Amino acid sequence: MRGDWHTASAPGKFVILGEHSVVYGRPAITLAADLRMTVAVRRSAWNTMNGEKLDFRRQAHIRHLTRNLRHAIDMLTYSEIPVGSGMGSSAALSASMAMALASMEDREMSEEQIMREAYDAEFYAQGNGSPMDASSCVHGGGLTVNMPGSEGRRLWTVERGGRRWEFRDLEVPRMTFVIGNTGIRAPTGPQVAKVHRYMERNSFACEVIDDIADVTIEGGNALRRNDVEALGRLMTQDHKLLSILGVSCDPLNKLVNASLPYSYGAKLTGSGGGGCMVALTDRAEQVCEAIRSRGGTPYVVRTGGKGVSMEPSPPDVPGADR
Ligand code: PMV
Repeated sequence: MRGDWHTASAPGKFVILGEHSVVYGRPAITLAADLRMTVAVRRSAWNTMNGEKLDFRRQAHIRHLTRNLRHAIDMLTYSEIPVGSGMGSSAALSASMAMALASMEDREMSEEQIMREAYDAEFYAQGNGSPMDASSCVHGGGLTVNMPGSEGRRLWTVERGGRRWEFRDLEVPRMTFVIGNTGIRAPTGPQVAKVHRYMERNSFACEVIDDIADVTIEGGNALRRNDVEALGRLMTQDHKLLSILGVSCDPLNKLVNASLPYSYGAKLTGSGGGGCMVALTDRAEQVCEAIRSRGGTPYVVRTGGKGVSMEPSPPDVPGADR
């Protein structure tokens, strides 16, 4: 009854500029990190995850991804990406699971098809988000979204609900980024919904979204000039705008403030409310120490992680049968 394992992995991502405003079709810049999510699947008599019997119908992403399967599966997952932390863990799960399932079913899928499947799963599970996370986790490397003047290769365009996102390849900058994790889990959906409610009630919130878009476009220009100082300043400015939108929190602000004396700039990354911040620096050790001293977990990111890809063997999950 049991088939062979089919295993795939995908990178997490962090956002240099433009989260939240990208939901409304504004520009953003994102890089894949070298932390990966690995998912293995095989045909089975019962649905299991990491050795436990599981009702996949209660897991929205997985329910969507397995909607056309006519049999049960065993599933193993292993994540280096902190979950619910603004580093795209759910998009990385959707992307790697879509690829592993396609392999199990002997179906060919292009990078773009995997991205669309992963984005649909994200949209189904957490509502009104953008395809930025899914694109970043599928493509790896670096990406710009709706960036005026971007000269990178066009990857794909996604349209939904009157919004349109054009993705282009971005040459990964030779810059050092340090991630600081607050350890507070904060799922994306509620943060995106909170900003949406704020925008409906208050035109000021719409102006903040416009300001984030302006800062992001300036950041795109700074990146092209390799101007770390300007880019850092813009990241810090973006953090202030995101704070005004109500998606930062004390633990994030503490880590950002602690990093600033040793950084060109710092900001929350992802949906906020907890999760991670990112600092642009050439003093990584000092930033790590500052983050640690405020109770955060630092991590020097190696940028340019490869996109979703097949793996030779399933992850070793304690207690689960391989
Ligand atoms: O927190 P994450 O890793 O899911 O990132 C969310 C990024 C947002 O711009 C806030 C939402 C989105 O769908 O683009």
